[in-house]
Amino acid sequence: MFGTDGISKAFGGAKALSNVSFQVTPGDIHCLAGENGSGKSTLIKIMSGVETPDSGTIILGEERLKSLTPREAVAKGVQVIFQDFSLIPNLSVAENIALSTDLLEKRKFVNPARNREVAAKALDLIGVDLDLDATVQSIPVSSKQLVAIARALNQGVKLLFMDEATTALTRKEIDQLFSVVRSLKEKGVATVFVSHKLDEVQEIAESITILRNGVVTAEGPIADFDRKAISLAMTGLDVTEVRLAPEVPSDTATVLEVSNISSKGRFKNVSFSVKAGEILGITGLLGSGRNEIAEALFGMTAIESGEVSVKGTPIALKGPRSAVSAGIGYVPQDRLTQGLFLNQSIRRNVMASAIERFLGAAGFIKGAEINDTVNTWVTDLKIKTDNPDNPATSLSGGNQQRVVLAKWLAMSPSVLILNGPTVGVDIGSKREILEIIRDKALEGMAIVIVSDDIPEIVQIAHRVLVVHQGEVSAELTDTAITESSLYKELAA
Ligand SMILES: Nc1ncnc2c1ncn2[C@@H]1O[C@H](COP(=O)(O)OP(=O)(O)OP(=O)(O)O)[C@@H](O)[C@H]1O
Ligand SMILES: [Mg+2]
Repeated sequence: MFGTDGISKAFGGAKALSNVSFQVTPGDIHCLAGENGSGKSTLIKIMSGVETPDSGTIILGEERLKSLTPREAVAKGVQVIFQDFSLIPNLSVAENIALSTDLLEKRKFVNPARNREVAAKALDLIGVDLDLDATVQSIPVSSKQLVAIARALNQGVKLLFMDEATTALTRKEIDQLFSVVRSLKEKGVATVFVSHKLDEVQEIAESITILRNGVVTAEGPIADFDRKAISLAMTGLDVTEVRLAPEVPSDTATVLEVSNISSKGRFKNVSFSVKAGEILGITGLLGSGRNEIAEALFGMTAIESGEVSVKGTPIALKGPRSAVSAGIGYVPQDRLTQGLFLNQSIRRNVMASAIERFLGAAGFIKGAEINDTVNTWVTDLKIKTDNPDNPATSLSGGNQQRVVLAKWLAMSPSVLILNGPTVGVDIGSKREILEIIRDKALEGMAIVIVSDDIPEIVQIAHRVLVVHQGEVSAELTDTAITESSLYKELAA
């Protein structure tokens, strides 16, 4: 058996976990659910030796422990797959899977032939075929995850934690991941999932533990819980999904005009325009080019031909700086590497892109105004912190995502591009974030939401472009935007 018995943990004065107990047995597939900041990652960190509990017991097989080091956790079979997978980008697939074993066995010299053999065996155990010699930086995110799982297996995993492991995967890749998890089950590995996507949770998990503010509010077999019951235990509220898109603005000016932009191997002849107050959705499967189009509009992917103009003025998108000075804001999907200065304070992060607005005539920063703005965003976006001067690392994953949103909203751009705005955000807060986006549209901002979250697109967009192999393959407007019509276009 694995789990905890009465674990508590506080950071400063704030209790992240209070008397938390949960259990899984070998071969279980368990879900750990809860709102942003409810304590899921903290519980995982305690079981993997990264954080020390204030009180309570860690259960690992026959052992009952007060605390453990990361090394002991690995030796006892605990492995965690974090969102960034902790792989070494410039090494090959084979080296990433096998190297840690070399270290564990204290081999002095790396033996390439043996690395390949060990890696091939581990991949074979999970039924996955990958190019062993490809560098990890060159393979897609879904493959990186499989490499991380193979490495965990190679290190003798008995208890596998996956903290928001499916956020960057397409449906097909999730299917593959789930079949790998089922094969781990047959080998007696217990898997614990953290995910905000309730439909996936219900599909793969057999049992569930739900946290709210660090306290277990419900647990049991997944069959006892429907979607409503899970979100009720998470939030204490009844969350319903309704269409939030405001009335389409009729006679506002075009703010963003994109004409025939192309980038070789990424996207081709993409054209659209967005009016003030309009919310345009762009969707497509992973690899369709949707992500590249979003990045191109912020100057992060080169546009080789075609034109982008803001308020009638053509702009040269040479990089994020040129996009920002043209009035374009961008909320990236990958908040951990693109969105935040993790070691800097929440306050600095929120202000990072708006700082010019707070320069007084003589170049003095208007401190009081900054404080007001930061406090407003912390309140409006319900960023869970007791002090905005704490570093961004002190926030839970979903709260870091809110800081990225706050940072760009504070800049008040004319065009805001949101790439996966609610990735990693719990379902109660998702609604609130979409409402804030809607309010920004009502104030006249032109908004582009790039997302593969179909219910979200249906809730918020006035118009949707579907991208397929780098080209716009369909355009749906207003009442034609339904979940079934979009799924149909995606599958076409
Ligand atoms: N190093 C730290 N210093 C201060 N507070 C922390 C630290 N790590 C976590 N916390 C706080 O503990 C609480 C629980 O955070 P945790 O990361 O476990 O949440 P989570 O359930 O994983 O949320 P999410 O879904 O957003 O990832 C939060 O209020 C967070 O701000
Ligand atoms: Mg977390």
